[in-house]
Order: sequence, then C-alpha cells, then structure tokens
Amino acid sequence: MKVFTSITDWQSYRAGLQQQPLGFVPTMGALHQGHLSLVEASRKQDALTIVSIFINPKQFDESADFEAYPNNYQADLEKLENAGVDAVLMPDAAQIYPDNYRFKVTESDFSRRLCGAQRPGHFDGVLTVVMRLLNLVRPDSAYFGEKDYQQLQLIRDMTSAFFMPVNIVACATVRETDGLAMSSRNQHLDETSRAQAASLYMALKHSRTASEARQVLIGKGFDVDYVEDITNRRLAAARLGNTRLIDNVEI
Ligand code: PAJ
Repeated sequence: MKVFTSITDWQSYRAGLQQQPLGFVPTMGALHQGHLSLVEASRKQDALTIVSIFINPKQFDESADFEAYPNNYQADLEKLENAGVDAVLMPDAAQIYPDNYRFKVTESDFSRRLCGAQRPGHFDGVLTVVMRLLNLVRPDSAYFGEKDYQQLQLIRDMTSAFFMPVNIVACATVRETDGLAMSSRNQHLDETSRAQAASLYMALKHSRTASEARQVLIGKGFDVDYVEDITNRRLAAARLGNTRLIDNVEI
C-alpha cells in the first residue's frame, strides 16, 4: 500500500496510472467497520481503491469539536492495508487549501436545512473538500455512506450540477448489534449514554411519524436537534450530553 502525504507525489503517481477503474473513499480517519464497508464496495467494483484521510478543518463549525476529533493514523493505515487498499492520500491542510479557502463551493438550499441549520458553513466545507479531493484523485467511482444522508445527497447534487465525471455510490449504514450506527463520535459516549444511544435508531424505525419519534427521543433523555421526514427517508440529529448523533432510516 502506497501512502502519500505530499500532493505533488500523489499527482505524479496518479499521472502514471494505467487506464483502469479507480474507486475512491474519502474519510476523516478514526476508521471503523462503516468506513471499511465502503472500501469493500470499491474493491468489488474497481481495479484500484484509493482512500483519503483528511480531518477537514473547514467543515467543523465549532473549534472544540475539531480539537476533540479522534485521530489514530497508525491504526488507520493498518486497517486499510489489511483491507487491501492500494493507496492512501493523507495531505495536510496547507496543501489542500493553498488559497486559504478563498475559493469554496456554496449550496444555498438543502444544505441550510436539517444538519445545516445548526451548523453554519458545515456543508460548504464538506462540498469544497470533496470537490478538491475528487479533482486530485479523478476516480471513476466515489463511495459515500447513507449514514450521512444529507451529505450524500448534496455530493450527488454537486457532482451533477458541475458535470463532474464521477459515479457516486451510496453504501448502506453499518450498525452495532443493538442498532447504533457506527461513528467515530461514539467513542465519546460514556457507559450510560452508550446504552441509551441505540434508542435513536429504534425511535426512527418504529415511530409512525417524525413528531412521535421526537417525543420518544425526548422521553429517552435526548436533546433533539431535528427529526424530519423527507422523500422516503426519516432523518434525525440528537445529543446525549456533548455528543451529537445523527441517523436516518428508510420510510
Ligand atoms: P467520515 O465521517 O470519516 O466518513 C467517511 C465516509 O464513511 C462517509 O461517506 C460516511 O458516510 C461513511 N460512514 C461513516 N460511518 C458509516 C457507517 N456507520 N456506515 C456506512 N458508512 C459510514 O463523512 C466524512 O468523513 C467527511 O464529511 C468527508 C466526506 C470525508 C469530507 O471531509
């Protein structure tokens, strides 16, 4: 497995690649089975699988959240090597943002709702880094989790709006045995919160309406940011203490 911390080195490697189906999985590290399921999907479909690890400062609306974001590059690289990844791109922020973020992608409608309502600038940060990474990697397919459903939709819409020649592949949410969606943020949950956390999925799945799900969550001790139904999907964000969890189910 090749590991690139320098974008220039990556670009010369990329320029030397033969024409063959290239799959790309962008991540922020702290890898778990959810991330690895995207790698598996790419390995099935593509000849080469590239993963990026970049904790994107521009998508954190609170600097405390950015500071607290887990990183464990050594363990991540081991997992990716075992998963059969061909190359990892892990540049620093100075290389990803040589323009100091003068240029960005802004979406002015869907990105302002749901998670975007509480997190100003978050999705602009996500879309901008994904655009930069896609331009650097130039994959045939890029893999994203349904776990971050709003993000997935926005990335689909962006690549289509800008005529970007990439196939966006959606992968199902990987869950713990009690139903909790795997997330790097789960490691911030203490024992009591961890036991409560699975109620998020259960409430979304088993309630008849979004407002019923909201009531159930409040009853279970969650601070609810939103529960909303959009076309055949119910999405929610809720906090347990300082930990913000998101999830969504098909309805
Ligand atoms: P990150 O949270 O590291 O997630 C990377 C990818 O893994 C995303 O597509 C996310 O939806 C997917 N993923 C996370 N948990 C999952 C789970 N339990 N099941 C299935 N897929 C899961 O999302 C980001 O990073 C960033 O916003 C990024 C797209 C990399 C841009 O910075």
